[in-house]
Amino acid sequence: MSSELPEIKYYERELNVRQIIEDSNLQDLDQALNICDLSSVERKYQLWKKLLPRIMPCYAVKCNDDPVLVKLLAELGAGFDCASKNELKLVLGFDVSPERIIFANPCRPVSHLDYAKENRVANGTVDNEFEVYKLHKHYPESNLIVRFKSEAKEAQCPLGDKFGCDADADATALMLLAKSLDLTVTGTSFHVGSGCSELEAYDRAIKKAKNIFKFGELLGYDMDFLDIGGGFPGSDDEKFQKIADIVNTSVEKHFPDERVQIIAEPGRYFVAAAFTLICKIHARREIRNEAGKLDTVMYYLNDGVYGSFNCILYDHQVVTAQHYLDDAENLPKFKSLIWGPSCDALDKISEDLRLPNLNRGDLLGFPNMGAYTMPIASPFNGFEIPKTLYFRAIQI
Ligand SMILES: Cc1ncc(COP(=O)(O)O)c(C=O)c1O
Repeated sequence: MSSELPEIKYYERELNVRQIIEDSNLQDLDQALNICDLSSVERKYQLWKKLLPRIMPCYAVKCNDDPVLVKLLAELGAGFDCASKNELKLVLGFDVSPERIIFANPCRPVSHLDYAKENRVANGTVDNEFEVYKLHKHYPESNLIVRFKSEAKEAQCPLGDKFGCDADADATALMLLAKSLDLTVTGTSFHVGSGCSELEAYDRAIKKAKNIFKFGELLGYDMDFLDIGGGFPGSDDEKFQKIADIVNTSVEKHFPDERVQIIAEPGRYFVAAAFTLICKIHARREIRNEAGKLDTVMYYLNDGVYGSFNCILYDHQVVTAQHYLDDAENLPKFKSLIWGPSCDALDKISEDLRLPNLNRGDLLGFPNMGAYTMPIASPFNGFEIPKTLYFRAIQI
């Protein structure tokens, strides 16, 4: 796998986005460009280790399955949260040992479970009795991690409607069923919601996890695995520090025993800030009011909501744009509406921006485009998805 990976270019001190744009000849290309700063991922990994030393980050591959990112995180020592056979294959292909992987999809096709079994990926989440029976039939030697629902009051993408059993009645019933089938429960997991804004939600959930541990121990299980899921911010390190304080305090209180292995499944935390997307304006239109005065400028870009801006629809992201005009501070700003390239009116990127008057061929940059963007992008209407260039600092 690694021999096929794209080239990584090295830079000193700071990544110079303007210079990369100039060198990339974007005026002659129709494809948008992702600039991926791998050192951003590395810095995030180091910050995690500093602020949450007891918790092993298992990167949620679904967030961005770019092999260059996955390889880097594997080399840094991260674990992985995989949801499917192909994600397992990708991660195992970088010589990650199966103990560093959690199969964190509580509803898996049998062939995916078979693959996990063949490759000794033993830790997997479960939240319903049908999956318990499925595991009994297809992977009885696996470690069951009971996923319960404990949501933040506010999150960019809540997950509780789809996954997680009730932390009291259902979790105990599942463990009793597992016991009756002679299966092994080793721990519990939750996800407070992706892009969590109610930070105390972590404490609430960790407290519930403690009760599940107690019930498991009553049944005679050796409960030693806690998975605190994802939900960590992609570009707000202050918020991350606050979450880390809450999590550390809660873990010290409810799980003081160091024998309990604690993992998390961060996705956007690692990769959101690593990608800056550069788009080109290939067309523009002007909307004038009845007096003929310019009211709104509409720009048409070479990437849209069917490409990497799908994050606007699926991940409820609000994107920010920056232009690259020199001395633009004193230029008048206009209400600007930004469209993607397809022939669909749903393909709208932003309508609330104020930008100087830009021309065909000018570029717009969108920071924080690494999470829940590229893996979902499609070349709808014949427009290519962006290409990615990779950069890394010689020393961080
Ligand atoms: C099971 C699971 N774990 C982890 C994640 C990653 O979440 P985040 O990107 O908020 O860290 C997700 C996201 O949907 C998920 O479904």
